[in-house]
Amino acid sequence: MNADRRIVLTSDHTAIPLRQAIAAHLAARGWEPVDIGPTAPESTAYPEHGRAAARLVASGDCRFGVVLCGTGQGIMMAANKVAGIRCGVCADTFSARMIRQHNDANMLALGARVVGAGLALDVVDAFLAAAFDGGRHAARVAMIEPAEDEASPGPA
Ligand code: RB5
Repeated sequence: MNADRRIVLTSDHTAIPLRQAIAAHLAARGWEPVDIGPTAPESTAYPEHGRAAARLVASGDCRFGVVLCGTGQGIMMAANKVAGIRCGVCADTFSARMIRQHNDANMLALGARVVGAGLALDVVDAFLAAAFDGGRHAARVAMIEPAEDEASPGPA
């Protein structure tokens, strides 16, 4: 097992075919997709899936995660509640590249009701092809995590 090539995928019921298409696309490009479902078309709760995928990334079991729901927004919010996760919703390749280069994102969220399959695959490719720039961005990224634990400072 090479954890650096493992990408966990999950979604809610709105995005199962797109998720499976992304998994096949990744496998064809030498990645190791870890598709944790679901496969049944019944309505499911995106927070459970987002959290499960995020835990696999936070633990180091998988290098990246790709998570989907109708908009991508709900599952992104759930993933970002897991310590160490930086997940962004993208519907364009520029943003997908930038969340790797500037934000060191380790998860990508997609909205299956927002993007078509062709664009979704391009967005995934842009995300995976980019690398974190480090430098001044490293200090900023380091400032993200502690904010979760701080009490609201109130108005400045
Ligand atoms: C499900 O109807 C929908 O709410 C969900 O897929 C997602 O878009 C939530 O953010």
